[in-house]
Amino acid sequence: MRDKVCLITGGNSGIGKAAAIQLAELGIKVIIGCRNEERGSAALKEIKDRSKNEQVELLLIDMSSQASIKKAVNELKSKHKVLDILIHNAADFDISRKTPQFSKEDVETVWATNHIGPVLLTELLMDELTQSEQGRVITVSSQGLMMHPLLKVDLEDPEFRERKYSVEKTYYQSKLAQVMYTYWLSEKLKETPVTVNCIRVTNVKIDIDRYPDLSELMKKMYSVKSKFAISPEKMAETYTYLANSPDIEHVTGNYFNEKKESVKSSKYSQNQANIREVMELTMGYI
Ligand SMILES: NC(=O)c1ccc[n+]([C@@H]2O[C@H](COP(=O)([O-])OP(=O)(O)OC[C@H]3O[C@@H](n4cnc5c(N)ncnc54)[C@H](OP(=O)(O)O)[C@@H]3O)[C@@H](O)[C@H]2O)c1
Repeated sequence: MRDKVCLITGGNSGIGKAAAIQLAELGIKVIIGCRNEERGSAALKEIKDRSKNEQVELLLIDMSSQASIKKAVNELKSKHKVLDILIHNAADFDISRKTPQFSKEDVETVWATNHIGPVLLTELLMDELTQSEQGRVITVSSQGLMMHPLLKVDLEDPEFRERKYSVEKTYYQSKLAQVMYTYWLSEKLKETPVTVNCIRVTNVKIDIDRYPDLSELMKKMYSVKSKFAISPEKMAETYTYLANSPDIEHVTGNYFNEKKESVKSSKYSQNQANIREVMELTMGYI
C-alpha cells in the first residue's frame, strides 16, 4: 500500500511540529512547509529523530507571498503526484505588532498569510488532492473568535488600509475567513472524495522566546495565560484525528475543537450570502 503524503505548513514549531511528529509516527510521509531554512532544517531533524521516520521533507514556503507559494507548489509537484492531507497550520500572529506589514505582493501580511495564502495553496494543489483516494484539507481557526461573536470580514477594508490597525482584529478576521472558506470549499467539493474541515484551536502553550518584541506586560499576560493552556501535543491530537482517522472519512464542512467534537461557529460565518461575499473578495486576490 502507498504511504499517505501530508503537507503541513508551519511544521517547524508549536502545534504544527507536534502534529508532524504524530503523523510521521503513523508512517505518513510528512512535508513540513516552513519559511525559514534554518528553523525548518532543525525541525526536520527533530521530527525524524522523534518519530523514527526518515521520510520527512522540508519545503520552503512563505505563506505571505504568492510567488513563494507558487514556487513551493512546483517543487512539491515535481516529487509528489498525490497529496492526501493538506493542513493550513502556519499563521502570523505576532501580537506585539503595532503597524501593518505588507507582503511582496503588497497585501497586509496577516490577511495574506492566514487566509489568502491557504486558499491559493489549496487551489494550486487541487489536482494532487483529487488524486488521493480520500484527500483531506484541514484549516485552522481559533477559539478566541468566541470572544468576538459579532465579528465580520470587512469587505471594504480587509487589510486595514483605511481603519486603525489592530493586529488582534486582523488576526481574528483572517481566522473567521478561514472558517467561512472551509464551509465554501466543502460545499464546492461535496461530489468528490476530498473533505474539508476546520480546527478550533484552544489556548495552547506557545514558546514566548519566539516573540522577542513583546512588552514586559504582554510577557506577563502570556505567562498567566499559559497556566491555563494545553500542550501543543494535546492540541495536535485533533489535527492527527482529522488527518488520518477512518471514522471521519465522509465528514466534511465541520468545525472541531480540541476534544475532537464538532462545534458551531458564529451565525454570521454560517450565512451563505456572507460566505459568498467573503469568497468573492478572497478570489479577487488570487
Ligand atoms: N497557541 C494558541 O494558543 C493558538 C490559539 C488559537 C489558534 N492558534 C493557531 O494554531 C496554529 C499554530 O499555532 P502555534 O501555537 O503552534 O504557534 P507557533 O508555534 O508560533 O507556530 C506558527 C507557525 O507558523 C509559521 N509561520 C508564520 N508565518 C509564516 C509564513 N509567512 N510562512 C510560513 N510559515 C509561517 C511559523 O514559522 P516561523 O518559525 O518561521 O515563525 C510557525 O512555524 C496557528 O494557525 C494559530 O493561529 C493557536
